[in-house]
Amino acid sequence: MTKEELIKGLNEDLAAELGTIIRYNYQKGKCFGVMGIELREMFDDEIKDELGHASFLTDVIIDLGGEPTTTPKDFGKPETIKEMLELDMKMELEDVENYKKHAQWAEKLDMIELKMKLEDMAADEAGHAREMRRIVKGL
Ligand SMILES: [Fe+2]
Ligand SMILES: [Fe+2]
Repeated sequence: MTKEELIKGLNEDLAAELGTIIRYNYQKGKCFGVMGIELREMFDDEIKDELGHASFLTDVIIDLGGEPTTTPKDFGKPETIKEMLELDMKMELEDVENYKKHAQWAEKLDMIELKMKLEDMAADEAGHAREMRRIVKGL
């Protein structure tokens, strides 16, 4: 495990966050009706969280001597709200696994603040996935 590998991993996380911000903004625009009102609020709340994550990752990558990516990870565009939320859940859970993995890398490099922040972010994403699972259950 090297600092360079960690920077590369964090840049993949950053690309995922940038993609999520764009995906939620896009999906928010595709939500209509009474159900849409609540979903739009949820996406707004989550966009704020993802922006916070992206901002933190950008600072850390720069502090480690890396160059933060500005290219978002690509994402699919399903037609229905149910399919959208299922995609979001899947991608949130992928983020959880990546943050858990990179938290372990940070621990190996003796970076305690980064390790704990990444675990915190894993918990945030798990919370997002759980909220979406509750909505999908009711659809
Ligand atoms: Fe995030
Ligand atoms: Fe999230």
